[in-house]
Amino acid sequence: MTRTVYVNGEYLPENEAKVSIFDRGFLMADGVYEVTSVLGGKLIDFDGHAVRLQRSLDELEMNNPISKEELLEVHRELVRVNEIDEGMIYLQITRGAPDDRDFVFPDPETTPQTIVLFTQNKPGLANSPAAKKGMKVISIEDARWGRRDIKTVQLLYPSMGKMMAKNVGKDDAWMVEDGFVTEGTSNNAYIVKGNKIITRALSNDILHGITRAAVLRFAREAQMEVEERNFTIDEAKEADEAFITSASTFVMPVVEIDGVSLGDGAPGSVTPRLREIYLEESLKKAI
Ligand code: PDD
Repeated sequence: MTRTVYVNGEYLPENEAKVSIFDRGFLMADGVYEVTSVLGGKLIDFDGHAVRLQRSLDELEMNNPISKEELLEVHRELVRVNEIDEGMIYLQITRGAPDDRDFVFPDPETTPQTIVLFTQNKPGLANSPAAKKGMKVISIEDARWGRRDIKTVQLLYPSMGKMMAKNVGKDDAWMVEDGFVTEGTSNNAYIVKGNKIITRALSNDILHGITRAAVLRFAREAQMEVEERNFTIDEAKEADEAFITSASTFVMPVVEIDGVSLGDGAPGSVTPRLREIYLEESLKKAI
């Protein structure tokens, strides 16, 4: 089935969708994005993603070319026409395509922004075998820029990080700055000690994960203790469990860090329980 995508107000077959070579997303990574998951044909935490999208745009002094209501409509239409039961919707907004390459921001009055949305069909996303097995991560230096709280399309270093992991037979990388874990290449990072969940506090150093906010809320509601503070790779290696969260993985156990198995090398009890609670509660509120 040819995928239908959305570009600047139009629904098109993916092979007919086009963006200018002068688009600043392409030339300068001058754009922001969001990834929203779909379960049972419904959107998980659409509101959270819409709010963060607006924040990313505001931080970059970029206009928002689409209202929240229209955006919801586009998400739903793409889910419908592409028959997505489980998967993701990717959204990207750039500062548009001026007449020529220039470092200076174009005038938003004369340069409309580019907005693109497409779906990714992932049957079995919620019931992923990886969630039963757990992931293996390596640690790498965090060489990204200083505004990681803005969800920009500058994804080269995260992509390189994933390749560093893949090249040594592992699944992902946790990034480390000044001795402390910031986050995973495309997810937030956590360790578990007893009944306590430890994760880095929010700042410009990490993306303010929408899944993170929900998971920490559900954890507190389930009487688990949550500590938002820095932790090192050494502390993580000694933890009982570890996991990551993101819109595409939900809650995913980490069972090995830099070759050291955590606990007995299996996902443990807290992480699978959190995953279950997250999926159950999020599905109830999906729209
Ligand atoms: N990544 N940290 C980083 C660096 C991320 O790229 C992501 C999401 C997260 C988790 O955020 P959320 O819970 O809102 O998905 C944390 C998306 C899924 C991606 O790039 O595919």
